[in-house]
Amino acid sequence: MKKLIIANWKMNPGSQQEAKNLFDAVKEGISANDNVEVVICPPFTCLSGLKFQNSAVKLGAQNMSYKETGAFTGQISSVMLKDLEVSHVLLGHSEVRKYLHETNQDINKKLKEAFNAGLKPVLCMGDEEGQNKAEILKTQLTEGLHNVSKEDVVKMIVAYEPIWAIGTGNNCSPEETKSAVAVIKNTITDLYDADTANVMQVLYGGSVNSQNSVSYLKEAGVDGLLVGGASLKPEEFIAIVTSAQ
Ligand code: PGA
Repeated sequence: MKKLIIANWKMNPGSQQEAKNLFDAVKEGISANDNVEVVICPPFTCLSGLKFQNSAVKLGAQNMSYKETGAFTGQISSVMLKDLEVSHVLLGHSEVRKYLHETNQDINKKLKEAFNAGLKPVLCMGDEEGQNKAEILKTQLTEGLHNVSKEDVVKMIVAYEPIWAIGTGNNCSPEETKSAVAVIKNTITDLYDADTANVMQVLYGGSVNSQNSVSYLKEAGVDGLLVGGASLKPEEFIAIVTSAQ
């Protein structure tokens, strides 16, 4: 299976031109490769300005509405994302859960909408400092995947992102990540079956950089990485992608 490296630019950079420069710098450094797939998730306002002639790099969104169309002020729909050739969408990122008060039930609706629209959802989940990791992950998966079919769930990607590791420099150890991945796979086995758990890609995110990326891919057994801060530095991000090849 190809490794998947996703860049989450969050609410950066401040202008379309800077986004284009960042994107071009990343694209220059990444060649089409059989071993790794790269997805860039810029802010919504930059999605239409980035051109993807290089098939090694795909476009993702950082969130979306669970509604297809209608009176939903401030929302972006799956239809709009598809129109901009977006292939992936991050759902349930901890910053959306926290600042936009998104619940597992909201995420469940968004997941179903993403599957309906043919977008590949990246379901983000993680524990706060001091929480029971296994319990939190099981609840996030069970509630988030309520009434999601096996045919759909195999198309999904899960990103384990402990909240205490995001943007802190305090990254989760590969051993701890490995045990979180096991909880995720076991829960998917309980909810669906072992085959489904086997094919599902699980990523790690939280203070990933070019120094620690290999340890996740080799020791923690993850299928890829979700990179925030380091994805805003082209050289650093390219080094992370190279480490996955
Ligand atoms: P970070 O962010 O790499 O800056 O920790 C990861 C994320 O929030 O997806």
